[in-house]
Amino acid sequence: MLLEVRDLHVEFRTRDGVAKAVNGVSYGVDAGETLAVLGESGSGKSVTAQAIMGILDMPPGRIAAGEILFQGRDLLKLKEDERRKVRGAEMAMIFQDALSSLNPVLSVGDQLGEMFVVHRGMSRKDARAKAVELMDRVRIPGARERVKQYPHQFSGGMRQRIMIAMALALEPALIIADEPTTALDVTVQAQVMDLLAELRREYDMGLILITHDLGVVADVADRIAVMYAGRIVEQAPVRDIYKAPAHPYTRGLLDSIPRLDQKGRELYAIKGLPPNLMDIPPGCAFNPRCPMAQDVCRTDVPPLYEVSDDRVSACHFWRECLHG
Ligand SMILES: Nc1ncnc2c1ncn2[C@@H]1O[C@H](COP(=O)(O)OP(=O)(O)OP(=O)(O)O)[C@@H](O)[C@H]1O
Ligand code: SF4
Ligand SMILES: [Mg+2]
Repeated sequence: MLLEVRDLHVEFRTRDGVAKAVNGVSYGVDAGETLAVLGESGSGKSVTAQAIMGILDMPPGRIAAGEILFQGRDLLKLKEDERRKVRGAEMAMIFQDALSSLNPVLSVGDQLGEMFVVHRGMSRKDARAKAVELMDRVRIPGARERVKQYPHQFSGGMRQRIMIAMALALEPALIIADEPTTALDVTVQAQVMDLLAELRREYDMGLILITHDLGVVADVADRIAVMYAGRIVEQAPVRDIYKAPAHPYTRGLLDSIPRLDQKGRELYAIKGLPPNLMDIPPGCAFNPRCPMAQDVCRTDVPPLYEVSDDRVSACHFWRECLHG
């Protein structure tokens, strides 16, 4: 495994109490593999990613337990300067909002080049050539001229390509993309997603793709991890999940994807809201919203049941769900 997160717990101390944002997440990604992480807003997708990258807001955040093994080393045991070397050079992150992640007063060429100057000790001139090469790589037309331009002179889709170029610059082993296309319109979304998938193959990187949108992951991901209230509730190869979910929450997410063959039919939405993370319901956190809930669900936390070799579900009734 390239990256293995083991039983990670992250909490935030706030004036109102302790928010348990991540409650025992375990997931992993191999070189050349794409893991999609799915779940509603507030389920802990980004906080888990921030813990992996070492960019968690601490305080108020705190890693209460767990291990993050990357190429065999536990990142949580590294000193900050060692951690900084890993970040950027060996793992990189792409965010939703390129405009606020890029520096508005530096040309994109200078920002891309900076990576090579700082990390590779290149001259400005060589770094500039590298920047043009990268912009070509992410298919920005007219890279040679546009390298002198500033972020605001690019469209949203092109800016996102620049972010991808920044992330790729040092050829990291792992990229974490947190809702990389959410801010873009639908056709541009598909182009950027295809580009990301293609580069992932070409560079044989591991990719963690965080998204709300089960619709986009079918073509690009190998495995899916579904999060709810800071836990993984189901993890499986993509095709297994699409064939039949083994968790009612996954089923709810699947049933809420708009489908072309069912135009006009009312879209299913999961009832109710995600729990307050300062007061997660006892038993299965999903029980107040679950159409399959029984008494045991209100008292006993479901463990991660092994559905098959490469599939787990945190539902007491995963069998009924799978075959129902
Ligand atoms: N800086 C912070 N201070 C306090 N609480 C925080 C902070 N960051 C995150 N949290 C808590 O962690 C929870 C999970 O946040 P996270 O950003 O991981 O959700 P997410 O799954 O990425 O949602 P979204 O789909 O909206 O991006 C939040 O609902 C919030 O309660
Ligand atoms: S454990 Fe119970 S409440 Fe939780 S998802 Fe399964 S059936 Fe629903
Ligand atoms: Mg998020």
